[in-house]
Formats: sequence, C-alpha cells, structure tokens
Amino acid sequence: MALIDEITKRRTFAVIAHPDAGKTTLTEKLLLFGGAIHVAGAVKSNKIKKGATSDFMEIERQRGISVATSVMGFNYKDVKINILDTPGHEDFAEDTYRTLTAVDSVIIVIDGAKGVEAQTRKLMNVCRMRNTPVMVFINKLDRPCKDPFDLLDEVERELQIRVRPLAFPISSGETFKGVYNIYEKNLSLFTSDERQTADAETVDFNDISSPELDNYISPKFAEQLRENLELVEGVYDDFNRDEYLEGKLAPVFFGSAVNNFGVRELLECFIRIAPSPRPSTTESRQIEPSEQKMTGFIFKIHANMDPNHRDRIAFMKICSGTFERNKNYLHVRSGKQLKFSSPTAFMAEKKSVIDFAYPGDIVGLHDTGTFKIGDTFTEGEKLRFTGIPSFSPELFRYIENADPMKFKQLAKGVDQLMDEGVAQLFTSSLNGRKIIGTVGQLQFEVIQYRLAHEYGASCRWEPISIHKACWIESDNQEQLADFKRRKHSNMAVDKHGRDVFLADTSYALALAQENFKDIRFHFTSEF
Ligand code: G4P
Repeated sequence: MALIDEITKRRTFAVIAHPDAGKTTLTEKLLLFGGAIHVAGAVKSNKIKKGATSDFMEIERQRGISVATSVMGFNYKDVKINILDTPGHEDFAEDTYRTLTAVDSVIIVIDGAKGVEAQTRKLMNVCRMRNTPVMVFINKLDRPCKDPFDLLDEVERELQIRVRPLAFPISSGETFKGVYNIYEKNLSLFTSDERQTADAETVDFNDISSPELDNYISPKFAEQLRENLELVEGVYDDFNRDEYLEGKLAPVFFGSAVNNFGVRELLECFIRIAPSPRPSTTESRQIEPSEQKMTGFIFKIHANMDPNHRDRIAFMKICSGTFERNKNYLHVRSGKQLKFSSPTAFMAEKKSVIDFAYPGDIVGLHDTGTFKIGDTFTEGEKLRFTGIPSFSPELFRYIENADPMKFKQLAKGVDQLMDEGVAQLFTSSLNGRKIIGTVGQLQFEVIQYRLAHEYGASCRWEPISIHKACWIESDNQEQLADFKRRKHSNMAVDKHGRDVFLADTSYALALAQENFKDIRFHFTSEF
C-alpha cells in the first residue's frame, strides 16, 4: 500500500477526562467495536485507585498495566485507529500532557451529572495550545444529568471552545429514552437492560415532525425533542469540519458508555471527520507526513518494572515516511546512527515486533538509558520537533541525599528519572540545592521508591514554599539582569540551564509581572 494510503487510513487520538467520568469504559467500548477485545472488562483501568497512594506494589502493578495499554491499536472498517492511553490518576497529569503532543485529535469524556471538572479544564488548555481537534462525549445519561443546553453552555464557557451538538438526548436518568443522532438523522432507543454488549435499536427518522415519533418515545418526549432540535438548529451554526480541524469547534455527542449507548455513533462520526496524521512542526521547518524520509520523536519513556533490568521502552511517534526495522536512523541529539532490531507495535493487549510503521503509528523502542523525552530520529536531517514542552509544576520539594555513600547512584537515578519525564529538576541560584517539581503528591513517593529500588539510592525530601515556577525571558537584558539580581533568592535554572523564577505566592508573581513589564513569564518551557 502506498505511503499516502497508509497515512489517510490512520487516526491517532487520546481519550481524556476527569477521573471517573468514564474514560476507561469508553475506551473499552471502542475496542469492542474494533473487535480488538471480545469481552467487557478486558481493558484494566490503569488508574491508581483512590487510597492506594502509599501502596507501592499497587503503583508498580499499575505501571505494568499502563505499559500494556499505552497504545491500543485496532482496525475499524478501513481505518487504523491508535488510541494513546493517558494515566487516570491526576498526579500523573504531566504524562498526559506529553501524550497529547503525540495525538492528532482528542475525545473528551464529561460526566453529564457533574459537567466540566477541574482536570478536564487543564487538559483542554493543553489541547488549545496545539489547536488539537476535540470531540466531546457527554456520558452517564442513564443517570440524572444536567440539562443538555446547560451542559453545552458549560462546555463552551469552561473549555473555551464553540460547540455543535451532533446528537441530542431525550431526557436522562430513569426516564432516559435515547438519543437523536443529528449527524446520521436517526433515533437510537435506550433500553436499560441492554447492558454492555447489545446494540441499541436505531430507527431512521429523517422527518422528526412525523407523528410516528410519538409511538417510540411518547408524545410528551416527542414534542420536547422537536422543540429542542429546533432550538439546536436555531442556536448553533451548521457543523463545519474545517473549524473542528482547526480546534475551534467541538462536535458533541451524548450517551452512556457503560451501556454501550451512543458509542457507535461517536465512532462512526469520528472515523469520518477526525484528522489523519497532521504535519509536525520543527525548529527549522514543517514536516509533512507524506515525506518519504522517516522522522519521529520520543514522547514517553517507560521504565522496566524489573529492578534487575534498567531497560526502558521509549515510545516514538512516527511523523513522516516509513519506519523500518534494522535500518539506521540518526539520533539527532547524540549524532549517532542507531538501528532497532525489535521495534514493537501495540495492538490492543498484544505487543509484537514489527517490520514497518507509518505516520501516526507509535513504535516501542528498547532503550538502555540513552533516550530523553523529545529526542528526534531522522534519516540524516538535524531536526528538532517543537511542541513537546515541560509544564510548570505545582508542588516542590528539596531533594537531599540520605546516604552519603550513594551520592553517584542518586545523581544518576535523578538524572534518568528526569529524562523519563517523571518530574522536573531545578537548581536554586541561591544555594545550589536541587529542587524537584511535580504536578502531584504521588510522584514524590514514586521517585523515592524508584530511586531506592532501581538505583540503590536513598533520598530525603525537605519542604520549600513555592507557589509556581515560571520560565522567564526578555529582550530587555538590563531589566532581566536587574530582575535576577533582586530576585536572586527565588531564581533557579532548569535542566537545560534556562532561567526559572520560583514565585513564593500568587501575589509575588502578580507583583513581579506588574513591576517588570519587559519580562515574559512562561508557564511552559517552550515559548
Ligand atoms: P475513568 O477511566 O474516567 O476514571 O472512569 P471509568 O471508565 O473507570 O468509570 C468510572 C465509573 O463510572 C465506573 O464505575 C464506571 O462503571 C462508571 N460508568 C462509566 N460509564 C457510565 C455510564 O454511562 N453510566 C453509569 N451509570 N456509570 C458509568 P465504578 O463503580 O467506579 O467502577 P466499576 O466497578 O463499575 O468498574
């Protein structure tokens, strides 16, 4: 098959949600449709259950599961779908942010009773930075939900994106009757005992003014649906795919993932409108997926669970050309030629060695500790992909060596864990002490545990009061130097030696922004 055909048939995306909204359930139903799994419950949630925060065996077990489900590839009709899994636990949000750099689109799951929640908002901010096309699935309609129009308004307001319902629910909870699929012009009827596997009954309904509708959903609900659809047509512009592809308009679906209701409609629409691999940006030029030469970048590194093997799996997204097994590629950062004898691909739960991979595919590469997040592979061109930023962490601690005999082990362990993207390291300009920044409490425990088990090192945490870390830069060198002098005790450098301002409080940050107008404060490392 020609490269262009391989590209057009691929859809690489992630399902994102606030914990418990139904991401795992929806993913599983999508896999069932693809025939990638055959029974419900086959995809184990990779979320670390609440209350398991100090149970390290549980974390290790979950890490194992999340390797297996990192990428779930399957074919549906003529389309090759790659779902990139994201950690369910919000303490691993940074991992999720990075995964979002490797997808071409996103499906956001929202709990219809709860509406837009904190984590959804944060993830949407990341999507917005890259203009990632998003589709919204409002879930749990079998439970009493908020009013659909209120939900649509909430999505629009909270996620700052225009919406266009392509389905509309008929009531919710006890009286949930089904969904009218505006996109397909038919009615899916909900019967609550069709749990998990059965397909919903769909009735074609081009003309919803037909009195026949009353026979299916009672005259009261039929009337309400007609009014609601009229309102939809009046309030929302026609669905415009270009706007969706530009990340400006989100089509919205309603359903119940656990009942497999509304999922097929979502998937059908998804394969039709979601983008195939898009061009990628590098520092020097734009890369088209159809270029013959292979390019790709590493967006995720996963350590081996076995402490006796320090090996890791690096996940590379193919951006252009055809990736081939045993072919030499330039590892741009080191300038070395490397070839891979056993690159792996992931089809649902199975991992297998592959000979070829195409743009949009994710390849697992065996790594003995040489790779870093963001590393680029090419056929010779010295490229660096952009759009793989570090995000400003939210929690900070000093890391101290607790065993003077193991200084080297600690340094190596910290270095490798940072390359893996577990957390971020800053060095204080005031006293040279090392500060670790994370997005979740759990990561400190994971780091301590992994340093001990994988590197034989021992660390101790000490408190430091920081509200936010932001990268700073300015064209006004004088003002920058003045700022760094005055804020000396709050300055640090990141791993790459870039200046970082560690603001004690939101007030201190606001004041700094106010007083130093020529300085730009960035909340991601890429600007
Ligand atoms: P997450 O990955 O986004 O964290 O959510 P997950 O799919 O694990 O779903 C969270 C809970 O919501 C699960 O219940 C799941 O069964 C339930 N759920 C998902 N979709 C629907 C839906 O359409 N309707 C209803 N009523 N519930 C739904 P749980 O009790 O936490 O787990 P489990 O014991 O059912 O696995």
